[in-house]
Amino acid sequence: MTDMTRHQAEERIAKLRELINNYRYHYHVLDESIMSEEAADSLKHELSQLETSYPNLITPDSPTQRVAGAPSPEFVSVEHSQRMLSLNDVFNEVEVAAWRDRVLKLLPADTKLEYFVDIKMDGLACALHYENGVLVRGITRGDGFVGEDVTANIRTIESIPLRLHATKGFEHFLDGRTEVRGEILMYKTDFEALNRQREAAGKPLFANPRNTAAGTIRQLDPSLVAGRKLYFRAYDMLRDDPANLPTHAQAYEVMRALGFLANRQASVVSGVDAVMHFAREWDTKRHDLPFNTDGLVVKVNNRRLYADLGVVGKAPRAAVAYKYAAEQATTKVKDIFISIGRTGAATPVAMLEPVVVAGSTVQMATLHNEGEVKRKDIRVGDTVIVHKAGDIIPEVVEPLTTLRDGSEKPFVMPEKCPDCGTKLVKINAKDAAWRCPNEACPSRSWKRIEHFASKAALDIEGLGEKNVIALLGAGLVKDPADIFTLSEQQVVQLDRFAQISARKLVAAIQAKKQPPLSRFIYGLGIRHIGVQTAIDLANTFKSIESLYQATIDELNAVEGVGAIVAESVVEWFAEPSNRQLMSKFAANGVRPETVATVGGKLAGLNFVVTGSLEQMSRDQAAEQIRALGGTFQSSVGKDTDYLVVGKNVGASKLAKAAKLGTKQINEQALVEMLA
Ligand code: IVH
Repeated sequence: MTDMTRHQAEERIAKLRELINNYRYHYHVLDESIMSEEAADSLKHELSQLETSYPNLITPDSPTQRVAGAPSPEFVSVEHSQRMLSLNDVFNEVEVAAWRDRVLKLLPADTKLEYFVDIKMDGLACALHYENGVLVRGITRGDGFVGEDVTANIRTIESIPLRLHATKGFEHFLDGRTEVRGEILMYKTDFEALNRQREAAGKPLFANPRNTAAGTIRQLDPSLVAGRKLYFRAYDMLRDDPANLPTHAQAYEVMRALGFLANRQASVVSGVDAVMHFAREWDTKRHDLPFNTDGLVVKVNNRRLYADLGVVGKAPRAAVAYKYAAEQATTKVKDIFISIGRTGAATPVAMLEPVVVAGSTVQMATLHNEGEVKRKDIRVGDTVIVHKAGDIIPEVVEPLTTLRDGSEKPFVMPEKCPDCGTKLVKINAKDAAWRCPNEACPSRSWKRIEHFASKAALDIEGLGEKNVIALLGAGLVKDPADIFTLSEQQVVQLDRFAQISARKLVAAIQAKKQPPLSRFIYGLGIRHIGVQTAIDLANTFKSIESLYQATIDELNAVEGVGAIVAESVVEWFAEPSNRQLMSKFAANGVRPETVATVGGKLAGLNFVVTGSLEQMSRDQAAEQIRALGGTFQSSVGKDTDYLVVGKNVGASKLAKAAKLGTKQINEQALVEMLA
């Protein structure tokens, strides 16, 4: 947060408390959600940071001072046989490794650890007590020491056996006391169906499955509970004779034999690498699970070691929760500026106070167009919720208007291009989208050249954003064709270059005078032409001259090319400045390679396959890629065009590809390219 006076901090704290309390009230009392839990967490974090800086502003009613889970007087309180613990969170590989080191330090030097990893289910914890195989009690977690007796309610959950199954070989677990702990869940589809019903009945909607499950279990009327579909999934088992359950993996086996659901995804792995592999695999697959999860539970598999390692604070030392990165956070809009794209689109962009979302720092978020800014009423100075998932460009979800202090400034779309001063023109009335019509706008030139030189286009090393801006600023280039006339003497005069770097850049440019046709087409930056469409066009028209002359009908006939693309191509080549650009390319000696008539479909493209393929062997893939003119490489490098990602993928290739920005495709996409 920016520097604040004490008075400003006091005001901000008051507003944050009000909004967080309002969120909590809606969430816990009304079963409604006014924002995501992640966004609320982000606000709580800001509040607790402010309170740390101004400790005498802490009041007992602050949301940071709340102690969770005190048992409700409506239910009978029951003491747990053993404390129900929580887990400490870890967020990345470094933190997993640090946890492993802390654990190993306490164990004999040669200890080889196995880990038991499972999905961390987002429900409510419950302990079930069985006596001689018969369910006698169900207790909520409560404060960990004392919970609420909700036996009548949990008896309506079909996946809880009222009597343990006497599976052959496991009968002795029916003797004496057995406690099974697990998570009570509402499945996502049941939750959605319930909310649809409520919507139809005009009732307020529930916030999320976990909250609904928790609310349901704490209903005083069991018949109401029976009407809601809940599940129980077991994760732990306590016996008076723990020696019979040497590992967590075996405890899961036993619990299954006794009639419980226990996650089949759970598995035993060795080493932090394997834990991370499991984590990455489930980061995408978790969305297909029937219930919500925000991470994994990683435990030392050996239950004896697990017990010996003891408890630190409220958590066992021998287990951690691996949390996937939150996809939402809150931050402040520092400014809104206009970015001119290579096609001239004038996009408002929010400059943000840096915030970590989905594992990376976000400083800018697209606001799409003027209409969107107005609709969402995003103002400079607003605290906003930012959303980002995986590789997706960050977006501003909404401003938190109750946190405004009056200093926020509404956004006004400029009438003129901020770079060249040309009057912007409206291209879409509905969304109030604007563009700079000046083909020679410096911003457009810069982005066009940068795109032309980018990895997926001509792949000219050393011609990134900063160098392009320097060349433009010195008046040495105006468009992508100009770069081919650059001499070492010209380049070396720029501050950014010395003799060697200037020589290298000029050589790198000259080496690309006969680019593969598809890359050249892609590099022109014609609207709607991505890498694949460029390949399709190159394969059909075979030379830049024929593409130049292609009619809408001819273009439309190309597989994968629709009316929008066809029109865009024709429009582009009809534009006089683009025609001039094409003549300039020719005059400067640029001759895109004509695609060979036979078998050159993948000419100039380099492939790497990682993991195992299902429809063909690696050798077959290599053979087919080569037969079509492509290159099959053994490892990902700067010149790799496609990383084909199969099953059981090694993390290192993916990491390298991500670092280099290599395009990743799945097996099906490869099959289609080979067809
Ligand atoms: S193992 C110390 N396994 O997460 C308790 N817990 O933050 C470790 N949870 O109270 C228990 N899924 O309610 C375990 N597969 C899983 C779990 C899981 C969800 C909950 C559990 C626990 C909380 C700890």
